[in-house]
Amino acid sequence: MHYLEFLGRVHAVLSPRTYLEVGVRDGDSLSLSRCRSIGIDPAFAVTRELVGPTQLVKKTSDAYFESLGTTRPFGKRPVDLAFIDGMHLFECAIRDFANIERFAEWSTVTIFDDVLPRDQDEAARYRHTEAWAGDIFRVPFALKETRPDLIVLTVDTQPTGLMLVFGLDPNSTVLGDRIGELFVRHVAADPQVVPAEVIARSEALEPEAVLELPVWEVLRAGRGVHSPAVGRGSILRALGLPHD
Ligand SMILES: C[S@@+](CC[C@H](N)C(=O)[O-])C[C@H]1O[C@@H](n2cnc3c(N)ncnc32)[C@H](O)[C@@H]1O
Repeated sequence: MHYLEFLGRVHAVLSPRTYLEVGVRDGDSLSLSRCRSIGIDPAFAVTRELVGPTQLVKKTSDAYFESLGTTRPFGKRPVDLAFIDGMHLFECAIRDFANIERFAEWSTVTIFDDVLPRDQDEAARYRHTEAWAGDIFRVPFALKETRPDLIVLTVDTQPTGLMLVFGLDPNSTVLGDRIGELFVRHVAADPQVVPAEVIARSEALEPEAVLELPVWEVLRAGRGVHSPAVGRGSILRALGLPHD
């Protein structure tokens, strides 16, 4: 399944009230949103019709989040769904996630693009190919290691895979505090050594199966109702994962 079809179907099953996107380009993914949306990109040139009420921000994501100060992107509402598809470098994507998590709640879903590059060239930090995923494939490893409280699934979409992250915690400062250490531990110069299981997609889930999981209903129905602890337990149960 193509990532845009998957993303459109996530909008349908999750019915987010708010959507934040880093990396807009011509608006293909942003045009899938039907709710209040913010799209951030220093160089967007939107040619698609945007359906939801949308704020387009012509800035880098770092500049945008810094400019917020104490303001929240959607006021009292958290970010219900976020898509990280801006600068395809490990540290930029981790920073985007850490910034988004400040405005999240347990029911927020964040999706990263490009976690499954198809070869070493596509995974390079210095782009030299037409299609480029960069070293985002390192992000799942770093999240699993530093934030075992997050629930991370990779999905076998075309062309370069997606990662879903559930169970966000707006009070966590771990990623922001440890970004320098993560950079040193996880980033390597080109040529990238991409693990065989990433290229083979052996741990990635079938998109249809992910869309049929009961987790979407749990997230929709529990928004603003459950406490973070109850919400997290309900996500784990809906995914068939061990829980307390
Ligand atoms: C792959 S495209 C996004 C495609 C879009 N999400 C879609 O699926 O239709 C990546 C975009 O990220 C933008 N970008 C690059 N650096 C960025 C940054 N630091 N912050 C936000 N966006 C950035 C680029 O201008 C480019 O338009």
